[in-house]
Amino acid sequence: MYQAAERMSQRFRSSVSELDRNKDLDMHDLTSQDHWHEPTGLTSKAGLGTFKKPPMPYDVFMDEQDIPIVRGVGVSRVQDLPLKPWKRVGEKGTFIQLWGTEGLWGMHVVEVPGGGALNVERHLYEEQYLVVEGRGSAEVWTDGKVHMFEWQKGSLFAIPLNAYHRIVNASSSPALLLGGTSAPNVMNLLGNESFVFNNDFVFKDRFDGREDYFKPADEIASDPVRGLAMRRTNLVPDVLRYDLPLDNRRSPGYRRIEPHMASNRFYMWIGEHETGRYAKAHKHGSAAVLICLKGKGYTYTWPSELGTHPFSEGKADQVYRVDYEPVGMVSAAPMSGDWFHQHFGIGRQPLRMSAWFGPNNARGRRPGRPGEKEKDLGAIDIRDGGNAIPYDEEDPLIRKEFEETQRREGAVSRMEDWLYVTPKEGEARPMTEFVGM
Ligand SMILES: [Fe+2]
Repeated sequence: MYQAAERMSQRFRSSVSELDRNKDLDMHDLTSQDHWHEPTGLTSKAGLGTFKKPPMPYDVFMDEQDIPIVRGVGVSRVQDLPLKPWKRVGEKGTFIQLWGTEGLWGMHVVEVPGGGALNVERHLYEEQYLVVEGRGSAEVWTDGKVHMFEWQKGSLFAIPLNAYHRIVNASSSPALLLGGTSAPNVMNLLGNESFVFNNDFVFKDRFDGREDYFKPADEIASDPVRGLAMRRTNLVPDVLRYDLPLDNRRSPGYRRIEPHMASNRFYMWIGEHETGRYAKAHKHGSAAVLICLKGKGYTYTWPSELGTHPFSEGKADQVYRVDYEPVGMVSAAPMSGDWFHQHFGIGRQPLRMSAWFGPNNARGRRPGRPGEKEKDLGAIDIRDGGNAIPYDEEDPLIRKEFEETQRREGAVSRMEDWLYVTPKEGEARPMTEFVGM
């Protein structure tokens, strides 16, 4: 062992003298992979101490596709992103991997030119598409009949796991689609692209081939975890005109539904804030990306250790802001997560958003001890043990700026004074009781 250590230290010394010869280079850029230092004595320990995150198999896959990879807190409009020819898919595309979502789920944009089609593919990851622009059709099949359905701007549909599919644009103008996938999850686990794209297994539990598989379903049910409104449907023809039942959890008058699609683990919802009313701030882990479908607005997101008053306390420089319109997006809790975030719809239209979480990431859907009691923390105020900042406890500069913005937009604020009244002990308070119990 000591001889080994001596050899190592000799190599280390020669590395250092090499470093001396070229002071511009960092030692570990010269010698990173080919040597190991054993600690001598008890004052030192093994390892580099600091290191760079290695690329995961999905990062390598994205790189190899040779199309842009957009990383950041958000995107104002996906229509403005540069696209590059994407050989595997047959048309142009870009990846989007917002901060905090790495490894949790993936996103891409793909353009289908007028009269064009994407290559046929199948894969062992889940995939759903939101149509940003254009119209066309999709063909889906496993070993039998080809199922066909039409899509248009605002359509949302899911491709059943490992089913063959082909996206066709029969119109003369280009179409733009935003895809969400569990490709990072599957690739980072298996690390074998060929297995993911060339697997014969037919998931009959996901796609039974029934005639009306892609017929939109309208029945509202209670989701099996949190008792929120859901629809089991594999196609939403138009998210812009989709009927949303009242929810009230994020703002007064807030409406929301969870489409459960293609038996996916991929979790999502569609919600809408009334014109002139903004969401309460709340905090949770990373994964959620909010996608602006209708209206326009902005989101603030800040690490929870900054507290509830980052603007009044001079910490505004540590708060991220993303402005968006359809179809823009923001990572609600970027970086390591547990960030407060707050969404503001501005102007004269309501703010309609869809939030995508990937598989098994949303609060309440993370693995844990089955049967363990969980609380819907994001829908419970901080003073009641939850993670939401009630309006009367938020930074006053937030309301001030919102009201000024609405004035500038020629629109009204409906954030009435009663929303900011601190409740007295034992008093009935708005938006605190759950009806599903
Ligand atoms: Fe959230």
